[in-house]
Amino acid sequence: MTRNGVTIARSGPSRRSLLAAGGGAAIASILRPGLVRATTSSDKTLVAAEGRVRITPDPYPQTQVWCYDGSVPGPDIRLRQGEPLRVGVENRLAQDTTVHWHGLRIPNAMDGAPYVTQPPIRPEESFTYEFTPPDAGTFWYHPHAHSAEQVGRGLMGALIIEEPQPPPVDRDVVWVLGDFRLNDDASLAGGFGNRMELSMSGRIGNTVTINGHMFDRFPVRSGERIRLRLINAAPARIFRLEFRDHRPLVLAFDGQPVEPHAPEGRRVVLGPAMRTDLILDMTGKPAQSAAVLDTFYKGLEYKLVEISYSSEQPLRTQPLVAPAKLPANPVPEPDLANAQRHEVTLTGGMMGGMGMGGGMMGMMGGSMMGMMGGGSMWAINGMAVMNDDMRHMKPVLTLMRGRSYILAIDNQTAWHHPMHLHGHSFRVITRNGARTKYREWRDTVLIPPRERAEIAFVADNPGDWMFHCHILDHQEGGMMSVIRVA
Ligand code: C2O
Ligand code: CU
Repeated sequence: MTRNGVTIARSGPSRRSLLAAGGGAAIASILRPGLVRATTSSDKTLVAAEGRVRITPDPYPQTQVWCYDGSVPGPDIRLRQGEPLRVGVENRLAQDTTVHWHGLRIPNAMDGAPYVTQPPIRPEESFTYEFTPPDAGTFWYHPHAHSAEQVGRGLMGALIIEEPQPPPVDRDVVWVLGDFRLNDDASLAGGFGNRMELSMSGRIGNTVTINGHMFDRFPVRSGERIRLRLINAAPARIFRLEFRDHRPLVLAFDGQPVEPHAPEGRRVVLGPAMRTDLILDMTGKPAQSAAVLDTFYKGLEYKLVEISYSSEQPLRTQPLVAPAKLPANPVPEPDLANAQRHEVTLTGGMMGGMGMGGGMMGMMGGSMMGMMGGGSMWAINGMAVMNDDMRHMKPVLTLMRGRSYILAIDNQTAWHHPMHLHGHSFRVITRNGARTKYREWRDTVLIPPRERAEIAFVADNPGDWMFHCHILDHQEGGMMSVIRVA
């Protein structure tokens, strides 16, 4: 059912009962090898197919999913900066698919946008992607056809490009955050593309996962320094993570280095598709524990995982010095003085927004027409593409290659939108008219209801690039457009 913008599947297993059931579940697979350098083999295949994986702990059965190479998330792809990658994707699903390499500034033909950069990969067909990622950082891959259902059923994976000299840490850990809506028997609930959800928060699940599983403990050792790469691969859920008793430092957003800093309000906010690299010093004592909470949706706060210290002696006695800023990636700097400015207006959806606690859902906005008429529920500058169908899309903006641009994005809706531009990284230069402190590079900017953000970038990558909301129900409900760099 849907209440005040947050969808709660009432029939699903409650997190508490699942955690209780999984008290002794194996935790080993939460740990990814730290400081293991990427292998030099960058020739890979990814098979998109149905599969069965364990999302919930015993005694729940396995869950039938759609996945890459039999696992959710798909295999980690790790390579070094400057190393080429070649991935043959085989589609063994019953519907079209593509793979999009989220956040990579690569040639347009490799971007995985169906009908725009390539024909969709039909069932039983394959497509080979080949490119050299220019930037080091934390990225991810996912389909770009029927996105809400395909990601919602498990198609996603981490893509890590290592710096030539990664910052010294004891462990490099990836958390792919997933969100699934499961029935009582741990099967995936159907009902993708529900029009009511489409016009609100999108499909929020009832089972939040780290690297595809529900965990109750994240085992650590006192004194360790961990680089924690957070990837929000959920179709719609926004996270606000609070690391109790710890002081994480942000090293990078969306793969791009930022001045190391404590997250605002000590909470790490991640809209769908967004990434944050943290340095997490394990400053607790042996045998202690501390909760990682997700407090984004009021009234629906929960514990994501418990940081659990071993009883071993601390790894070091002296605290480590603060981490240095990561080396910059070769992203061209926009010339703000001569940048051309465009207004981008986001409209649609239900009115009423995220207010919690009230009974009524609020008035319907312009989307009422859309809902009744079967048209779009969301729009970008009045234009909308439905259901990832890019066949007849005209560019919402045409930019000149090599020029600097500022997009002033005005969210006139009552909902959050993580807006993503393909093929480019941009600086977030203002929010609600005020300069941002870190002028951070990003590929996805989360814009709260009725707020504004300005982003700046050089349109240096020629081609037609998707510009859309990464709440995948919003994307399929019309909040999708093309920006042409000519
Ligand atoms: Cu994660 Cu259109 O992208
Ligand atoms: Cu949106």
